[in-house]
Amino acid sequence: MIKILFVCLGNICRSPTAEGVFRHKLNQVGIRDGYLENIYIDSAGTGAYHTGHAPDIRAQQTAQNYGVDLSKLKARQITRQDFNDYDYILAMDRDNISNMKRMCPKDQQQKIKLFLEYSKNYPTISEVPDPYTGEREDFEYVYNIIDQGSSDLLEYFLNHYALSQ
Ligand code: 4NP
Repeated sequence: MIKILFVCLGNICRSPTAEGVFRHKLNQVGIRDGYLENIYIDSAGTGAYHTGHAPDIRAQQTAQNYGVDLSKLKARQITRQDFNDYDYILAMDRDNISNMKRMCPKDQQQKIKLFLEYSKNYPTISEVPDPYTGEREDFEYVYNIIDQGSSDLLEYFLNHYALSQ
């Protein structure tokens, strides 16, 4: 099984959007994720401010407009155990990477990458900007980056792993 963790700061805007969009794209190609499947995905924040909260309503509404339901996700903070458990730990920005590297065991640090590193627009766009203090259009902008990044990431996984068997 491959385990992927999407990470941002609060786990209420960018990383739950990435989790929801990536799951939606997996489902569209007939792949399910979960403990009994070939792929398991989750998201977490480096900060604990929003632990237990549903995604930001602006992120939920933006995703809903594209048919992606984020309403059942709940924010959690990343733990040291996650670095052992997950194979790909994909950060939305470089601040998330430095925060994680401070707590990640040395022998697991190679698992930490930028989410957009698998994207064809990388390195032109290498980070997903934080929309939290922005407006609705910032959420739309961020959603579109995550949507493209998730398509590219899915292509990468389909090319490298036999996910649907
Ligand atoms: P996220 O956005 O990292 O994309 O979930 C943020 C959400 C909350 C905060 C910062 C960023 N905050 O400072 O509360």
